[in-house]
Amino acid sequence: MRIDIITVVPGLLEGPFSHSILKRAEDKGLAKVRIHNLRDYASGKQKQVDDYAFGGGAGMVMMVEPIAKCIQALQAERNYDEIIYMTPDGQPFNQPVANELSLKGNLIILCGHYKGVDERVRQKYITREISIGDFVLSGGELAAAVLTDAVIRLIPGVLNDETSALTDSFQDGLLAPPVYTRPADYNGMKVPDILLSGHNEKIANWRFEESVRRTKERRPDLLQGPVSEPGDEVK
Ligand code: ADE
Repeated sequence: MRIDIITVVPGLLEGPFSHSILKRAEDKGLAKVRIHNLRDYASGKQKQVDDYAFGGGAGMVMMVEPIAKCIQALQAERNYDEIIYMTPDGQPFNQPVANELSLKGNLIILCGHYKGVDERVRQKYITREISIGDFVLSGGELAAAVLTDAVIRLIPGVLNDETSALTDSFQDGLLAPPVYTRPADYNGMKVPDILLSGHNEKIANWRFEESVRRTKERRPDLLQGPVSEPGDEVK
């Protein structure tokens, strides 16, 4: 998978992709993330990428031309499955959307800034608009980093223990159950006996019940949809 991110603040995206899981994905050749500075596609001495909004009002709007040039330059190199615009008025991002995007080949992600992008960019180029939550960030960069992390870790082979993404919270429509590691007794706080029993089926059932309990308690809204049982295939 290849992800090309278009931004006016490339520095904001330099950190997240050179570390841990994303770095490993890149080293293994499973994912490639490239950052593009929109200013490189702007014309004139000023390298202008934004301008005042027609009709007035506070805040600048990102111009069509540099974005169009950048997208066209990328499209000349390869085909893209989606051109995503990160925006608070987009489709809410969640695990099913991450799963779906992880199956794609090449993605472009456009990060909005200022008051957003000229509407004609959205009409002509954008195939999908995604929000990471009902709050407004100063730009789409951190949202793009969140999406990229959530998607790349789902590509088979990126995580060391392949099953671990399948047991994440939300992957089966439920929150994840509690987890423990050594010591089995920490100052009298004991790990549930069942986890030390070695009985795999009982452990799977315990984890499922704990997941349901935790979900009921913390996120009852998730229980409106279908819930898969232990052993069900995760789609
Ligand atoms: N840009 C600014 N806020 C955002 C949000 N909540 N989600 C995606 N992109 C954004």
